[in-house]
Amino acid sequence: MSKKKNNFIDLIKSHRANKKDEKFEGDFLSYLDLVQSNPDIIKTAHKRLHDAISDHGVESISPEDPRKRKIFDGDSIKIYDYFKDEFFGMERVIYKVMRFLRSAALKGEESRQVLLLMGPVGAGKSALTEHIKRALEQLPYYHLKGDPQRGEPLQLIPRGLRSDFEDNLKVKIEGDLSPVARDILLREHKGKFENYPVEESTFSQRGRRGIAVVPPMDANSQDVSVLIGSEDISKLDKYSEDDARILSLNGAFNVGNRGIVELVEVFKNEIEFLHTIITATQEKRVPSPGKHDMVFFDGVILAHCNESEWNRFKSEHTNEAILDRIVKINVPYVLELDQEIKIYEKMLSRSDFSYHIAPHTIRIASMFSILSRLHETQKCDILTKMKIYPGEEVIEKGRVKRIDIKDLRAEVREEGMKGISTRFIMKSIDAALSDSEKGFITPVSIMHSIANQVNEQIPDQSFREKCLGIIQTVVSEEYLKILENEIAKAFINAYEEQAQSLFDTYLDNAEAYTTRQKLKDRVTKEEMQPDENFMRAIEEQIGINGSARDGFRSDVTAYMFAKMRRGEKVDYKSYEPLAEAIEFYLISSVKDMARIVTKSKTRDDDQKKKYSEMIQTMIDEYGYTAESAEEVLIYASNNLWRDS
Ligand SMILES: Nc1ncnc2c1ncn2[C@@H]1O[C@H](COP(=O)(O)OP(=O)(O)O)[C@@H](O)[C@H]1O
Ligand SMILES: [Mg+2]
Repeated sequence: MSKKKNNFIDLIKSHRANKKDEKFEGDFLSYLDLVQSNPDIIKTAHKRLHDAISDHGVESISPEDPRKRKIFDGDSIKIYDYFKDEFFGMERVIYKVMRFLRSAALKGEESRQVLLLMGPVGAGKSALTEHIKRALEQLPYYHLKGDPQRGEPLQLIPRGLRSDFEDNLKVKIEGDLSPVARDILLREHKGKFENYPVEESTFSQRGRRGIAVVPPMDANSQDVSVLIGSEDISKLDKYSEDDARILSLNGAFNVGNRGIVELVEVFKNEIEFLHTIITATQEKRVPSPGKHDMVFFDGVILAHCNESEWNRFKSEHTNEAILDRIVKINVPYVLELDQEIKIYEKMLSRSDFSYHIAPHTIRIASMFSILSRLHETQKCDILTKMKIYPGEEVIEKGRVKRIDIKDLRAEVREEGMKGISTRFIMKSIDAALSDSEKGFITPVSIMHSIANQVNEQIPDQSFREKCLGIIQTVVSEEYLKILENEIAKAFINAYEEQAQSLFDTYLDNAEAYTTRQKLKDRVTKEEMQPDENFMRAIEEQIGINGSARDGFRSDVTAYMFAKMRRGEKVDYKSYEPLAEAIEFYLISSVKDMARIVTKSKTRDDDQKKKYSEMIQTMIDEYGYTAESAEEVLIYASNNLWRDS
């Protein structure tokens, strides 16, 4: 027992020792020394937040990055490391937030504006706000001791002296003392501001230091004291009404001074409440409770809301003045499949989720949510659009003209503001697990669960039908294609050897064709014409037809011989498009066999062996378990290879 106790006390002691050793504490004069030696400690709230985030690292997307060209349309978007591992496909939103902070830090008009994140539920507004606030958490800052607003000590300097001090210290001095700090200065220090004590604190949301949150309130409980503090009535018998000592400056704008004030779902509040927020902040001042002077406020005001609240608010023309003071950034849902997948992978890795997730499960769920968000287009089917959006080069068989991602984008002004939310998908995953109690989920069970959730949770009939169509037709057909290929691949035992021999044959033929020679049979040495049918059968797998063939054949030949001349190894994987064509060709040739073996209820010995080898490959190489492999194989045999 006693040993354990010692461990705890050691732990506590070492924790304490590791905390920042000495916090600054001194009078204003010593603070001035500090500023002189390090003017960088003087920052407006916007600048402090901007720096806190950028200090984690910033990179510009390189011009060669395909995402820059395709997704960001050539814009030079900066990527902030601080968000990189937490938020996916939100680079544009984050970039806009940071641009706002940067202009505000340069004391642009933005420093007097409310930053509003507007978007559908589950698009990550709250999570993004939390993360932004957390950037300040534990950062040190200096402030007036005893001041509930934790004001900047330089505000002690009287107006008449400020420009001298500014020149001297090479900093800008903004704002005035809070009524409480002024009272302390006059009463306790007889106006000798050089003696005013200054101390150092760290930002802390829980400690209500520099980070404040205003939850939405209904009309009844709504009270501006939440924002600006109140008068302590019990002190009125001791002090007069205009004595600063009766003030409790504990409202959000007092607490959030120097840092950030978050307004959660801001338009759920009554309009009067909003007026207080915005008219006050425009002047960087908030009213004080009772009869006292306005109180200086320097902080980032970050609000969020959804689209219907925003529309309702915007439609009231009496709100025009407020609208003018809001910088709105839209936070749409993610429209890139690979980024959407990362969201769920993050969420699942953080929960104490210990179930087996069969391959493709998260991809299938993400496909559904993305497809529900995309607008239809005349240019291609919706699935193709989904594949083009992440920048994938979609080669459809027989298609000559590529569809340009920019053209698709230009068709719709606001995409991603409607559709299935991340929460809906998480609920479907949970439901899939609790329904079955199997301890694993597969694309089959997730599709089933999504369809159930759609029926139960989407009241709007036309959207419900759209969603059912997506999951039961588009997504399930796409899954069957993925599954069919996977099964076929698992089925080919000597996959590599077969691929390699096809490759050798193709290369011999393509070379002979390109150089207009005959080719020699490798065994009989007999001379013969290049096998046109064979080459075409390979090429058409990746949509190479007609006049494109000649070019492809000579490209392949030139590429391979250049590689060989450099002494590099050449195998079927050397040239990506050809490797893909060969795989497709192989797969289509084994599908028939795979079907028979997978489907037949009574297998002969040879078939049994092939079947169990296939399952083993699915387990060892693709990450299934025996049960999950079985579930998808049953699905395949019921849906993929229906007896006609
Ligand atoms: N693009 C994204 N990247 C990472 N996580 C996301 C993204 N979009 C949503 N999420 C996650 O989805 C969940 C719901 O988001 P939330 O912030 O509550 O949405 P909102 O406030 O917009 O309704 C959060 O756990 C959040 O981390
Ligand atoms: Mg939210």
